[in-house]
Amino acid sequence: MRTLHEPRDRDRAPTILGVLGLALCLAACDDEPAPLLTAEQLLDPAACAECHPTHYQEWRGSMHAYAAEDPVFRAMNARGQRETNGALGDFCVQCHAPMALRLGLTTDGTDLDDVPQHLQGVTCVFCHTVDAVEGTHNNPLRLADDGVMRGGVRDPIQVGGHAMAYSPLHDRHDLRSSALCGSCHDVVTPAGVHLERTYAEWLDSPFNSDDPDQRTTCNDCHMPGRRSAIADVDGAPIRRHHDHSMPGVDVALTPWPEMQAQRALVQRELDTMIVSEVCVVPRSGGAEVEVYLENLTAGHSIPSGAAHDRRLWVELIASAGDETIYSSGVVADGEPVAYLPDPDLWLLRDTAYDAQGDVAHMFWDIARVESDVLPSPTLVPPGSPGYVNPHVGRRYVVIGETPDRVDLRLRMRPIGLDVLDDLVDSGDLAPSVRDAMPTFDLAASVQTWTMDAATLRVTPLAGREAWCVPQ
Ligand code: HEC
Ligand code: HEC
Ligand code: HEC
Ligand code: HEC
Ligand code: HEC
Repeated sequence: MRTLHEPRDRDRAPTILGVLGLALCLAACDDEPAPLLTAEQLLDPAACAECHPTHYQEWRGSMHAYAAEDPVFRAMNARGQRETNGALGDFCVQCHAPMALRLGLTTDGTDLDDVPQHLQGVTCVFCHTVDAVEGTHNNPLRLADDGVMRGGVRDPIQVGGHAMAYSPLHDRHDLRSSALCGSCHDVVTPAGVHLERTYAEWLDSPFNSDDPDQRTTCNDCHMPGRRSAIADVDGAPIRRHHDHSMPGVDVALTPWPEMQAQRALVQRELDTMIVSEVCVVPRSGGAEVEVYLENLTAGHSIPSGAAHDRRLWVELIASAGDETIYSSGVVADGEPVAYLPDPDLWLLRDTAYDAQGDVAHMFWDIARVESDVLPSPTLVPPGSPGYVNPHVGRRYVVIGETPDRVDLRLRMRPIGLDVLDDLVDSGDLAPSVRDAMPTFDLAASVQTWTMDAATLRVTPLAGREAWCVPQ
């Protein structure tokens, strides 16, 4: 580890200075020089690790660090540049390699191999120097060029490393912090299609509220806190350390730091995200099965963002004795779910179409999107004005025998194998990357229906009595 500052004497208590105070100190506190990182060092996340080792470790395993390394990103961008004769330009790197772009080290992302690794991806200094949000999509973030690291701490101890300041754009208590995250998590393509809409969905959700009891920003959910010092320097007080691993859906598909840890965090998030209900009306010679899903934890739709690439689907198996009498959504490992010859398949995703009305996978081909996703949770109690039933239901008809058991689970692939096959076929993606794509099972969605386990109640979809699990 580089020595960027001298070890401090504990007895010399750190001076608590305001934002202006730092400038005063730089001028007047000659006996206590604050060894600041150079502009060059500020750009390097590894330089932060000396004083913020856990922030660094968490970020290193995150998709923010992986954003420009991601082989699927590289493949799609390369193909996009080729197929549009370069018209795609800096569209993709403005979010996936924003620092490298702004430093002029890349213009279109096809030369990212020549860009030093520490300048790729969404880096520390990119987020921490944002001083204005000048739009709602496509990364309209303005960076200050003053070397001041902005964060949510109002009274940082200014003892070395860098100048620092409180910023409402970084403070999870402030609604404006969602604009910092959201304006990158919202993509309008060059053709004008609002393809990724996480921020727009959150803006429309009840979490975007002036009421402090309801208000829930991106950071409230995605950067959980724990009590600890936030800098590894003498005299650092105990504060709220915000986790920077930000697990979502994507995982590293090539060797990458913290790979297993990050994957476990993603699984944990996915496990609690959706709850389900299975209701059965047995008939002689069959049954009607109603399945309900509810977005329990996300502050926007599920899937969100890259919902055109996500594949989230319902696997339903009805059996009588040992025999399967009906199934939907059963796929083998390595088999794309999108092409299943299954008329009942419930696939939650955005389906994108090109100008000719054919299914399209690539940003630059997409002219229109049809969305079939779970809406954000509602905070309005049932019966009150504005209440929207957040349950989304589907009916399956089992013909033949009457099932005595119905098994349900939700499964998710971060990127559809059909999308990856498209990139393999065009020669842009290595088949080994496709093979590395995991399929996650979502624990809270798993149900086993039997008559013994069920209770009789009126179902939301058909409004009739059915035998439902969970009780
Ligand atoms: C030499 C030690 C040192 C290094 C290196 C260092 N920091 Fe800090 N940083 C600190 C200290 C000390 C604090 C204040 C801790 C406190 O008040 O509890 C701090 C606070 C912060 C804050 C919070 C500011 C606020 O007011 O909310 C951010 C953000 C931050 N650092 C980012 C970075 C980044 C990014 C890097 C790498 C480019 C970095 N730091 C490198 C020592 C360092
Ligand atoms: C995607 C944007 C983003 C990236 C990338 C990022 N941070 Fe942060 N960081 C934040 C936000 C937002 C907060 C403030 C959260 C709050 O207070 O609500 C924060 C807070 C901090 C703090 C203050 C202590 C705390 O936990 O609140 C430190 C120190 C810090 N980050 C260091 C780093 C370092 C070091 C890196 C890179 C290794 C990094 N950050 C990368 C967004 C980011
Ligand atoms: C510079 C643009 C940018 C900013 C600002 C930004 N992100 Fe991201 N974020 C990305 C990109 C690009 C990815 C996807 C990388 C990949 O999967 O290859 C990503 C990934 C994520 C993921 C993981 C998504 C998944 O499905 O795996 C989460 C969660 C996330 N960001 C949350 C946040 C939060 C919270 C903030 C604000 C503190 C934030 N982001 C700020 C660009 C940004
Ligand atoms: C109420 C909590 C909550 C809020 C508020 C929230 N999220 Fe999420 N978000 C979740 C959960 C839960 C998931 C699903 C589990 C997962 O994938 O991590 C999720 C998933 C995501 C994903 C991956 C989605 C996908 O399907 O690919 C992204 C990206 C993301 N959030 C970004 C954001 C951004 C940006 C904001 C603010 C504009 C935000 N979130 C606000 C809880 C929240
Ligand atoms: C406005 C910012 C922005 C732009 C522009 C952008 N992306 Fe992304 N990209 C994101 C974010 C944010 C995520 C994470 C989304 C999520 O998890 O839902 C992401 C995720 C991805 C992923 C991860 C896997 C997946 O699909 O979820 C790939 C691959 C990707 N983008 C490719 C591209 C390509 C290629 C382009 C240009 C044609 C592009 N992106 C343009 C912000 C952007």
